[in-house]
Amino acid sequence: MCGIVGYLGKQEKTISILITGLKALEYRGYDSAGIAYQKNNKIKVIKSVGRLEQLEKKVKLENTVLGIGHTRWATHGKACTTNSHPHQSGNITLVHNGIIENYIELKQMLEKKGYQFQTETDTEVAAAFIDDALKSSKNMIKALKKAKEKLKGSYAFAIFNDLEPDTLYAMKKESPLVLGKTEEELFLASDPMAISSYTKEICYLNEGSIVKLEKNKVTLIEEKDTRPIWKTLNIENCNNGKNGYAHYMLKEIYEQPDVIYNIINPFLKDPEMEFKKLPNFSKYKKIQIVACGSAYHTGLVGKWMIETYASIPVEVEIASEYRYKKVFYDKKTLVIVVSQSGETADTLASLRKANKDHIDTLALVNVITSTIAREAKYILPLKAGSEIAVATTKAYLAQLTLFSLITLKLKLEQSSNMEEIIPLLSAFQKLPLKIKKLLENLKTKDIASKIYKHNDIFFLGRSIDYAICMEASLKLKEISYIHSEAYAAGELKHGTISLIEEKTPVLSLVTDTSIQEKTISNIKEVKARGAYSIVVTNQKLEECDYCDDFIIVPSTEPLFQPILNIIPFQLLAYEIALLRGCDIDKPKNLAKSVTVE
Ligand code: F6R
Repeated sequence: MCGIVGYLGKQEKTISILITGLKALEYRGYDSAGIAYQKNNKIKVIKSVGRLEQLEKKVKLENTVLGIGHTRWATHGKACTTNSHPHQSGNITLVHNGIIENYIELKQMLEKKGYQFQTETDTEVAAAFIDDALKSSKNMIKALKKAKEKLKGSYAFAIFNDLEPDTLYAMKKESPLVLGKTEEELFLASDPMAISSYTKEICYLNEGSIVKLEKNKVTLIEEKDTRPIWKTLNIENCNNGKNGYAHYMLKEIYEQPDVIYNIINPFLKDPEMEFKKLPNFSKYKKIQIVACGSAYHTGLVGKWMIETYASIPVEVEIASEYRYKKVFYDKKTLVIVVSQSGETADTLASLRKANKDHIDTLALVNVITSTIAREAKYILPLKAGSEIAVATTKAYLAQLTLFSLITLKLKLEQSSNMEEIIPLLSAFQKLPLKIKKLLENLKTKDIASKIYKHNDIFFLGRSIDYAICMEASLKLKEISYIHSEAYAAGELKHGTISLIEEKTPVLSLVTDTSIQEKTISNIKEVKARGAYSIVVTNQKLEECDYCDDFIIVPSTEPLFQPILNIIPFQLLAYEIALLRGCDIDKPKNLAKSVTVE
């Protein structure tokens, strides 16, 4: 999603810092980019559609002390050079993340005052509004305060005006923005990753903050406190390259054994102590898990784990629905939000809704410096390291691992019997090695070569296998652009089976022994209609006339089986996308951190 970088510092560094910062944000997904800087009392704006390399071709490394840069993920108006940021109006030049919801109304008002608009964006309207407010107040802080009062929606802005050379302003509401500093430089960024190679001294801006940056001077106008609070950035989450892999996604798939090991190792060493460190869940009679996309899918697995092994009812909700619906919770409800980035707008809004109603909240989150991590009552870090590929793999697996630990803690609270947990932990301990071996032995390349040209691929499973199929289907469609659907195996014949044609690939996951026979009869139904049937299983299936190909996953304790089951699907999606020549790490139209609703 959109990214912001701002810099005020040394002449010769400005342009390259803007470009390097934008490159560090590339993984978030974007469709155009631009920079603006002040040079000899003039403003230069350079924009380009497509990848940053296109922008770099247009940019000259001129000397200037002040600049702003932006990567745009189109929301209002198509991806084109005109609509890309920075935008200008009158004396104002700015970049923006977020959405100005009342821009049409403001645009009409500004048009009556004589403003003309060149773009289809809400951002240009914000620039005009601030310019108009500056004209009447003659004071930039007053103009920004007026904008804060009138602009509805979400925003992080980096702004400068023609009248104040070498001065950078920023303002934020519901979109992340951080400051950074060194002795002689000041930075602005929507994500600390953009500036982490230049500074580790970071200040997270609070909601509603307005900031003025001048040479070695930061003036912060906040609702509560006016002093910036500087923290040292934890560099754990910084990108350390592809490490020899062709894509980040592949690297991240292969990092999964280490991710699980990092989470469970302390529990293996001192289970008593580590389980004590987890929040005390005993007072909760109900759990609500709220998330988006793959994180929502981990919630479905978490529900199965907690309900099956700890008998506590769990509701799983899509955050964009939850935030606007009537929710039934009380003091005995725990709301768990799940998010890799910790910045997903809908998940954050859901967390805030629960916090506002004084309901206990727990965040399973990877970026521990994120807004969600800062605002949840309890947090459990995923410890997955930075995830760069847009399609999540290792963060998803870390979330499943944490849900397993939460389930074990709930069991422990119910029986106070560590003896019951120890054998489960020893099965847990074997998972990293099992995943390593599975990755070594998988023959997904061969299967991918047989099915990659198809336009539709279906996934079937029941119960927990269905929850994994939903993630498998999302992985495939997001990176290969093949239409795909996951179906609860028994549901297919209620309509969707009409889409099964001769050779339509159908991947079925059969590991839940309690309903294995039922799933197999559903597979037979699609096979009878000509499907090319691929069965993923940890079972020895006796009679195999219903499958054309097999993928075997190793067995483990049923509680942890889902953690193994997703692995072949991740790799298969990768191999298929590779054969189709897709941009695997940056799939079209997608963003890594979805900061708008
Ligand atoms: C899919 C994917 C997305 C995210 C979703 C939530 O591979 O990555 O579906 O899971 O956008 O993002 P986070 O976890 O950052 O809240």
